[in-house]
Amino acid sequence: SMTPSKKNPVTVTVTGAAGQIGYASVFRVAAGEMLGADTPVRLRLLEIPQGLNGAEGTAMELTDGAFPLLQSVEVTDDPTVGFDGANVALLIGSRPRTKGMERADLLEANGGIFSVQGKAINDYAADDVRVAVVGNPANTNALIAASHAPDVPLERFTALTRLDHHRAVGQLALATGAAVQNIEGVTIWGNHSASQYPDLFHATVDGRAALDVLAEKGLDQSWIEETFIPTVANRGAEIIAVRGGSSVASAAHAALMHVRDWTLGTGERWTSMAVPSDGSYGVPEGLISSFPVRCSGGKYEIIHSFEHSDFSRNKIATSVTELVDEREAVAQLGLLGQR
Ligand code: NAD
Ligand code: LMR
Repeated sequence: SMTPSKKNPVTVTVTGAAGQIGYASVFRVAAGEMLGADTPVRLRLLEIPQGLNGAEGTAMELTDGAFPLLQSVEVTDDPTVGFDGANVALLIGSRPRTKGMERADLLEANGGIFSVQGKAINDYAADDVRVAVVGNPANTNALIAASHAPDVPLERFTALTRLDHHRAVGQLALATGAAVQNIEGVTIWGNHSASQYPDLFHATVDGRAALDVLAEKGLDQSWIEETFIPTVANRGAEIIAVRGGSSVASAAHAALMHVRDWTLGTGERWTSMAVPSDGSYGVPEGLISSFPVRCSGGKYEIIHSFEHSDFSRNKIATSVTELVDEREAVAQLGLLGQR
């Protein structure tokens, strides 16, 4: 009889591992939900000094989980140790937004973290390192990290808009009564912020154009503009208001699915990832903006074939303008490196 073949172990560095999203992520990573049931993992938990006890406790609980795929857990507050040999980096650690704050308020507070970590990734991570930024403002933090890592191919720096993608799918499922797995072709464009554009114009529900299915429910373009888009785009703030804290388990889930699809592939479906622009759809090259992507062989590819209405073009342009402004703001603050 044959024993199932195991792949090489993958080193996964999780920053902010003692925080809420970190805690909601690492056990599922250890259980194989991110990289697959045949891939052993070595976890590195990177924290700041105040978070070390929390991370140590999390490491103890990971041991107590006796996860068959988990080969080791290391806790550190030194980025050069934390990213040493990292194949996957989940950059979660940063200050979350609280009630009344906009993501822009976080630019300065969190920007400094990502320059230091980008440099450490550049100098210590494995050659195949893949970076997914969760900490806000995620797109611009990814831009900062990438700018300090000139030796790492730019396309390895990504930011999370998968949570927005899932939120859009969830709202479309609620509105149409369709099962989530029968919804395809939703796209998030732009920034992980209230300016994002959740796009239903190429979506299908049970194999039919989403717009036709919505129309049968009496939901027209005004529902998209006045209900769907604002609900998805402001969901982060709504969760903060209702729950009393920013989203955690849904964010952790999205981060895992982002990396899972990137490494294991999407098949024919597409998903949304914030990735360095190749200049398509009018997004300035190098900005980290959300696009529709397919993944296979460990690579993502932006889908280039969409024709956009003026409505969609304007929506994308608005969010991209915000990203350009964020880039300008962090450049002014001296947070961008030399790439
Ligand atoms: P949290 O405050 O519970 O945890 C953050 C952790 O990061 C803390 O333990 C802190 O000690 C640690 N940390 C801070 N600076 C660090 C550094 N330089 N290196 C390593 N660790 C560091 O916050 P949370 O609820 O887990 O949220 C984390 C981030 O994720 C926030 O920025 C939040 O806004 C963001 N977020 C993003 C999305 C998304 O979809 N992109 C969704 C939800 C939350
Ligand atoms: C979210 O989308 O839930 C997070 O980015 C938290 C926030 O500040 O909105």
